[in-house]
Amino acid sequence: KTVSLIGAPTDVGASRRGSSMGPEALRVAGIAQALGRLGVPVRDCGNISGPANPSLPPVDGFRHLNEVVQWNHLLHDAVYTELSKGRLPLVLGGDHCLGIGSISAVARRCREQGRLLRVLWLDAHVDFNTAAITPSGNVHGMPVACLCGYGPEKLVRMSGHVPALSSEQIRQVGVRSVDEGEKRLVHEAGIEVFDMRAVDELGMRQVMRSALRDIDDGVHLHVSFDVDFLDPDIAPGVATTVRGGPSYREAQLCMEMLADTGCLSSLDIVELNPAFDVRNQTAELAVDLIESLFGKSTLMGR
Ligand code: ARG
Ligand code: MN
Ligand code: MN
Ligand code: MN
Repeated sequence: KTVSLIGAPTDVGASRRGSSMGPEALRVAGIAQALGRLGVPVRDCGNISGPANPSLPPVDGFRHLNEVVQWNHLLHDAVYTELSKGRLPLVLGGDHCLGIGSISAVARRCREQGRLLRVLWLDAHVDFNTAAITPSGNVHGMPVACLCGYGPEKLVRMSGHVPALSSEQIRQVGVRSVDEGEKRLVHEAGIEVFDMRAVDELGMRQVMRSALRDIDDGVHLHVSFDVDFLDPDIAPGVATTVRGGPSYREAQLCMEMLADTGCLSSLDIVELNPAFDVRNQTAELAVDLIESLFGKSTLMGR
């Protein structure tokens, strides 16, 4: 399957700027060449272009809601187009508000094709805030809530069906920072969360075995990879670092086990922020992990 790189240079969903430089940092780190070496055909669709970041405070619990809606519509349409052509969309973010448009397009396509969808959300955060409970107003802290039907009409309806995802379709791994209101809501919604305590106690292998238990033939697996999932010691290039994340080895195993399902059908790489990075090392690490996600292994294959 051909991979379509779709750059979505946003930081409108965050309060700290710079994730808009993420797509270019991933290209400079050689994402297209790395996939090419694995024998994966790649086409780079370039960047979608949306409204500028007005850098304003939140209004009614949302920062830059109109800009977020516009970017997500554009991304939804770009991802849907690539899926319709039988390609694997790889969204180069941009902040995590993009998960709304990207996964809404995937949900729309899976509904049309009668295909089962599972979403693996790799993140230090649950991103389950709403306007009423958000401590920041940042929409990058709200995409999972929006996809599950908690949020403003314009974001919640994007897939053509409300909710875009039911709670059984999503699993979160790597979580270690949840806001007070979010704790209640994520529990009420019934999302399955494998937090860092689960990784500590069970190990990444058992966590991933559980998270991937019903993902087999015919399932569309979407991976939404927030780079702040990784431990900040190895991945400083994000604005929302939280200590105590997966190590290099744990992250590699996670990606390899995702690859082993053979079901990966769409992907977001988000929250990479070159303004916080050191010599592009976090972008290079992300590319290294993406190679594993696309099947690179130490002893098998090329
Ligand atoms: N929970 C915090 C908030 O709502 C942080 C969210 C961080 N999200 C992210 N995609 N990095 O502001
Ligand atoms: Mn549209
Ligand atoms: Mn995060
Ligand atoms: Mn996130």
